[in-house]
Amino acid sequence: MPAGTMAAASLQHRLDAGSARMPPALIATAQASPNIALIKYWGNRDHTLRIPSNGSLSMTLGGLHTTARVAFDPGAIEDMLLIAGKPAPADASRRVSEHLDLIRMTAGHNLRGRVESASNFPANSGIASSASAFAAITVAAAAACGLDLDAETLSRLARRGSGSACRSIFGGFVEWQAGHDDATSCAAPLAPANHWRLIDLIAVVSQASKKTGSTEGHRLAATSPLQAARVHDAPRRLSACRQAILQRDFDALAEVVELDSLLMHAVMMTSSPPLEYWLPSTLTILHAVAEWRARGAGVCATVDAGPNVHCLCASGEAEMIRSGLQELHGVQRVLECPPGEGAMTLTGAE
Ligand code: DP6
Repeated sequence: MPAGTMAAASLQHRLDAGSARMPPALIATAQASPNIALIKYWGNRDHTLRIPSNGSLSMTLGGLHTTARVAFDPGAIEDMLLIAGKPAPADASRRVSEHLDLIRMTAGHNLRGRVESASNFPANSGIASSASAFAAITVAAAAACGLDLDAETLSRLARRGSGSACRSIFGGFVEWQAGHDDATSCAAPLAPANHWRLIDLIAVVSQASKKTGSTEGHRLAATSPLQAARVHDAPRRLSACRQAILQRDFDALAEVVELDSLLMHAVMMTSSPPLEYWLPSTLTILHAVAEWRARGAGVCATVDAGPNVHCLCASGEAEMIRSGLQELHGVQRVLECPPGEGAMTLTGAE
C-alpha cells in the first residue's frame, strides 16, 4: 500500500476506534529552536515552494524555543491558531492553515486543527520566530497525524511554511542545500551541537514588530542590482563557512559571516522600495564589535531581518563580551545561546 494510503487507513482506524472523545493520537506537541544564519537565505527562485536563490548555513540556538501543540478535531469546521494563548491575526492563521493543508495531504485526511504556539523569546525582531514556529508546527502536526517521517522529509515540509524553518529541524550547525525543486531543497546537519561551543550573544535593541516581514523581503531581493552578485558569490562563501566550522577556525568564520551579513543588508537597502532593518543602536554595536576584534577579542557580528545584533564568540570570551554589550547605549538585554538541539516531539505534554 502506498505510504499516504497506509497513513489514511491507520488514521481512519483510530477515528473509528474513538468514541465521543477525540483519540489522543490526533494530538501532539513539539518543540523547536530558532537558528541564526551564518550564511543568509535572501531571495527565492520559487516563492510558492520557497526554493531559495542560494544555499545557507546556520547554527541552531539553544535555550530559545517555540512549543507548538497541534490537535486535529473531527468536530471542528475550521483551523484555529493561538499564539501565546491569543487568537492569531488573520494572515498568520491563513499561513498556518495552508501549512496544515500540506500535512493533511501527506496524511490523506481533511480534519481541521487547533494549533497553539508559544515562544520564550521576542517575535518579529530578527530572532527568527517563524523558523522555530514552523519547525515545531510541522513536527507536531506530522506526529498528530501518525506520520512517521524522516528528518529530511520534515525539513522539506517545514521549508514550505517558512524557508529558514527547514534548518531548525536539525541541531548544531546546519546547511540548507538550495536545490532546484521541492525534492532537492532541504537542510542537513553539518556538525552536531557539541562540535564547537560557539556562543551567540543576541543584543536586543528593539522588540517591536518589523514593518516588512521576510516573506515580502524575499520578493524584493531581485529588485536590487546587488542581488545577482551576492547570489553568484554564495557558493564560495558557503564553502569558506563550512570549512571554518569544520576546522573550528574563528577568524575565518568571522570574516565570512560578517561579509555575508553586510551583503544581505546591502541588497535590502538597495531594493526597491529599500528595506532598512537597522536602528542607530544596531550600528553602535557593529562598531563596538569591530573595535573589540581589532583589540584581539574573538567576536563577530551578524544581523538578520531586524535591528538586533547576533554577536558570535567562543564560550571563553562570552562573559567579557556580554558585559561590554550591556554597557552600550540602546541595548535592552542580551540573550545567550549555545548551539542547540533539533526539533523534537514532547511526549506526555498532551
Ligand atoms: C534574514 O525564513 O523568515 O533570517 O520563508 O518568508 O518565512 P520566509 O522567510 P524566512 O527568511 C529568513 C531570512 C533571514 C536569513 C536566514 O535566516 O537565512
